[in-house]
Amino acid sequence: MTNIATKNKMALRPMGKSGIDASAIGLGTWAMGGWMWGGGDDQASVDAIKASLDAGVSLIDTAPAYGFGHAEELVGKAIKGRRDEVVLATKCGLVWHEKKGNHFFDAEGHAVHRYLGKNAIIHEAEQSLKRLGTDYIDLYITHWQDSTTPIAETMEALLTLKQQGKIRAIGISNASPADLEQYIAAGQLDAIQECYSMLDRGIEKTLLPLCKQHDVATLSYSSLALGLLAGKIGPERMFEGDDQRKDNPRFSVENRVKIQGFVKSIGGIANDHGISIAQTVIAWTLAQPGITYALCGARNVKQATENAHAGTIQLAGDEVSLIFQAITSHLTGFDDA
Ligand SMILES: NC(=O)c1ccc[n+]([C@@H]2O[C@H](COP(=O)([O-])OP(=O)(O)OC[C@H]3O[C@@H](n4cnc5c(N)ncnc54)[C@H](OP(=O)(O)O)[C@@H]3O)[C@@H](O)[C@H]2O)c1
Repeated sequence: MTNIATKNKMALRPMGKSGIDASAIGLGTWAMGGWMWGGGDDQASVDAIKASLDAGVSLIDTAPAYGFGHAEELVGKAIKGRRDEVVLATKCGLVWHEKKGNHFFDAEGHAVHRYLGKNAIIHEAEQSLKRLGTDYIDLYITHWQDSTTPIAETMEALLTLKQQGKIRAIGISNASPADLEQYIAAGQLDAIQECYSMLDRGIEKTLLPLCKQHDVATLSYSSLALGLLAGKIGPERMFEGDDQRKDNPRFSVENRVKIQGFVKSIGGIANDHGISIAQTVIAWTLAQPGITYALCGARNVKQATENAHAGTIQLAGDEVSLIFQAITSHLTGFDDA
């Protein structure tokens, strides 16, 4: 079987109106932070980031909240000497250095608030730059929205950072269509980052048409549904420590069995391309209209390399349709189980 993944080049896609091109696959670093994922292996994480770059991934997504600075530090370590190969995305708006905005959650001894006031954003950007070991961030994203601060004030802070050359493009995450419209009214918005996968398609009818209308790029997050869609989590897999999947009803044994049925039904397409189920799922995600980049988390070199190669795969139109049929047959009402 020919593996077309090794024949083609990583797809590059434009990031809205920013003038930045980034790889269609983005490496996500949430799990590398350890927190909410049962801990992490720092050396494996650094190696995974380097392996992603080696495989043609330029887009790396991180956030201060991922391990409370830890994931950013690991990214900084991994990209040292390779900054020009990276389109670096990080975030602001989940703060624990002050108690303003809305209290969101308590974790690891921190009271975390959603806050996007001007001074806090400027402070957070400086902290991220230090941890990342760089003097600019390519895409700076408001991580969660803050109902206590006018969006015009938030955008003013982001535009100030842009004028200073500390950020190159502006993005938002976990935002409503009304938020998106307000950001666009206040300045240039280049990207959104939202949950999207075969199991989470809500934005198809809400945010995606707006992004198309305004030339805003889309980064799908949890593209593998926290690993469930990678096709390797069987009924026997146990989740340890604070791994968020331990008590998540989506990971019930019934659902894992459903996923196995889905995996079987798309196995022929994967075989025809000589690729894995995870690669087929990611390639399907990238084939969806309005999805510019698929962010995929990886814990080690093997996962990072496998996911990166999905950015070289082009599914045919009839394959995308067949996968839709499999989603309808096996994954409809999935979370009602
Ligand atoms: N803006 C936001 O609010 C937000 C929210 C969530 C995520 N994100 C971003 O999006 C990124 C991606 O989402 P995610 O990390 O939540 O979930 P994901 O990409 O759906 O799943 C990642 C997990 O799936 C497993 N996995 C990944 N590739 C695999 C492969 N090839 N084979 C087998 N298992 C594989 C790994 O976990 P195991 O090996 O432990 O199974 C990995 O940690 C994040 O890292 C983060 O950068 C942003």
